[in-house]
Amino acid sequence: MQRKEIPFAELNLNPIKFWDDSMLLTAGECEPGKFNTMTIAWGCLGVIWEKPLVLVAVRPSRYTFGFMEKYDSFTVCAFDKARYQSVLNLMGTKSGRDTDKIAASKLTVIPSSKIPAPCFDEASLIIECRKIYHSDLNPAVIDATVRSFYQRGDYHRFYLGEIVAIHGESSYQKD
Ligand SMILES: Cc1cc2nc3c(=O)[nH]c(=O)nc-3n(C[C@H](O)[C@H](O)[C@H](O)COP(=O)(O)O)c2cc1C
Repeated sequence: MQRKEIPFAELNLNPIKFWDDSMLLTAGECEPGKFNTMTIAWGCLGVIWEKPLVLVAVRPSRYTFGFMEKYDSFTVCAFDKARYQSVLNLMGTKSGRDTDKIAASKLTVIPSSKIPAPCFDEASLIIECRKIYHSDLNPAVIDATVRSFYQRGDYHRFYLGEIVAIHGESSYQKD
């Protein structure tokens, strides 16, 4: 996939629709068995502390959660949804705890440019993040409209990652 480095200020995407497309979150380091990947669809892109950030929400039951905890970086990769739907389904329904879904996906694992967490060559957009904060969802203050998402507990941990590099297809860069 042809990608180029894109400054955060020149990123061209709809920050709400972007997450509809389903992405892969990867944490760990670029060696077999030392990272894991899962599909995500909930997240935010924005600015806090004068830093460009990604927020991802990870339930503690995910195998990826342990990698998010152990390692200091993660990547968020976007794909052409029509082409990679089966991969997104696989990564979002099977656990790396039970199966080598990364091998099964046939995706090409590549190193990131600035962080240990790897990414995938088939991605149309790769956001490299350095983990700088996390916070657990507090059930005591949760709004009634979202309580149904937590009938079995497993409250998300929100991770904020400072964006340290973005590489994407040219359509992701403003003219
Ligand atoms: C479209 C889609 C979006 C998902 N988004 C999230 C998410 O934002 N956060 C989360 O914790 N799980 C999410 N999941 C569930 C995980 O991807 C799924 O449980 C996965 O199998 C976990 O893999 P792991 O155990 O290897 O980490 C999503 C699943 C799908 C299919």
